[in-house]
Amino acid sequence: MTHLLHVDGLQTHFKSDQHCITAVDGVSFHIAENEVLGLVGESGSGKSITALSVLQLLPASATSSATTLTYRGEALLSASPKRLREIRGKEIGLIFQNPLAALNPVFTIGEQLIETLTIRGGLSKTAAREKAVALLNQVNIPDAGRRLDDYPHQFSLGMCQRIVIALTLSLEPKLLIADEPTASLDVTVQAQVMALLKDIQRQHQMSMLLISHDLGVIAQNCDRVMVMYLGRIVEVGTPNDIFLNPKHPYTQALIRAIPSTNPNHKQVFNALKGEIPSPLAIPSGCRFHTRCPVAEARCRQEDPTLTACGSDGHLAACVLV
Ligand SMILES: Nc1ncnc2c1ncn2[C@@H]1O[C@H](COP(=O)(O)OP(=O)(O)OP(=O)(O)O)[C@@H](O)[C@H]1O
Ligand SMILES: [Mg+2]
Repeated sequence: MTHLLHVDGLQTHFKSDQHCITAVDGVSFHIAENEVLGLVGESGSGKSITALSVLQLLPASATSSATTLTYRGEALLSASPKRLREIRGKEIGLIFQNPLAALNPVFTIGEQLIETLTIRGGLSKTAAREKAVALLNQVNIPDAGRRLDDYPHQFSLGMCQRIVIALTLSLEPKLLIADEPTASLDVTVQAQVMALLKDIQRQHQMSMLLISHDLGVIAQNCDRVMVMYLGRIVEVGTPNDIFLNPKHPYTQALIRAIPSTNPNHKQVFNALKGEIPSPLAIPSGCRFHTRCPVAEARCRQEDPTLTACGSDGHLAACVLV
């Protein structure tokens, strides 16, 4: 099977004068064509840093390394800055939580779409304008032809995120990394934007790395799911494996903590016993042992690796499994 993205042994450190934080510690995964891979875990577990490491978009204080980091067989760690700029956007699209960070407030959305389509997409100005209208229609912006001349502030936040999706799609990336794409939106709008994103993924047969706190969103939209804790992947499997037959005590705790009526995901994670430890003081052995309800003495010493458990492709990192 051809993997679009192949990551093996990814490590990302932040260094300052005082300390060194390992935000991502030996993460390995792959994304196949047309596959939606979900990434869940508490705040601070390293989800965003994993995504930014793949695209080499890290702050200057960070360094990352990997045994393998390839997109369609091409090494990303040794790619030139020019090639990386091409890959970002055209091959791998990125959508973040805050749409306003992706839109320039002083240009109309038409100008921004047309600029992307002409400069990066190689279209003529006329063709770009037509395509811009088609893209806005595709993301359900009513009266698209006229709204091309409006500025970002004239749209709601949900509409701005739809426009960012249109901008991202304009370059027809084969892989989309969506980091909490609906977290900044109203609950009612969240579902609409997520449904749109999933529709577009299906239509364009795009692959997607979908990062979310929201286990419901992950369960509904992903082909496979990775659970991350303190810089490590602790469990991976299909939504059925993860949600119906979770093996890792951390995954089990996350699922038990889903409230049936309250969609506020911050509360979901607070329901887990204790706080996530500081990355400056990573526990010995299994890093979840300090919060684990079933930990034994050996969990303080043995550092578990991802091991097959049950169905094909279902892996968990726990010595008790
Ligand atoms: N610029 C930075 N300098 C130092 N440490 C950082 C920096 N950015 C992130 N980190 C650390 O890296 C770790 C992983 O952060 P990351 O942003 O990937 O978490 P996350 O899983 O995306 O959390 P959230 O769900 O809140 O978005 C955290 O411990 C964080 O404090
Ligand atoms: Mg994040």
